[in-house]
Amino acid sequence: NKGILRPVTYEELAKHDKVDDCWMAIYDKVYNVTPYMKYHPGGVEELMKGAGKNATALFNQVHQWVNIQSMLEKCLIGGLVGHPPVPA
Ligand code: HEM
Repeated sequence: NKGILRPVTYEELAKHDKVDDCWMAIYDKVYNVTPYMKYHPGGVEELMKGAGKNATALFNQVHQWVNIQSMLEKCLIGGLVGHPPVPA
């Protein structure tokens, strides 16, 4: 990674919404949180609320002070691009 983030669309992000394959966007960055799942102090169920989604609001509601940039540095996939899907 030379400082250039690979773009990740909401569509691609949404495909990774399983406990054993879980991506999450926070502050426009997409992380693979699968390896972190079992270490999350709030538990698997709580973390899974943001699975495959832009979880920034959820994240900030609970722990705005947590430094994800440093915590999930090695889990960074890319940058979130585009627009959220329009609800049916
Ligand atoms: C607690 C990290 C996403 C819900 C925590 C704590 C950390 C953490 C470090 C302990 C904070 C403290 O005690 O000060 C993360 C990271 C996330 C993430 C790195 C992103 C990948 C989420 C999401 C939710 C969530 C999406 C869903 C609402 C919670 C809850 C607690 C917690 C409820 C409190 C547990 C308790 O004190 O009993 N998280 N979190 N977290 N997290 Fe997360």
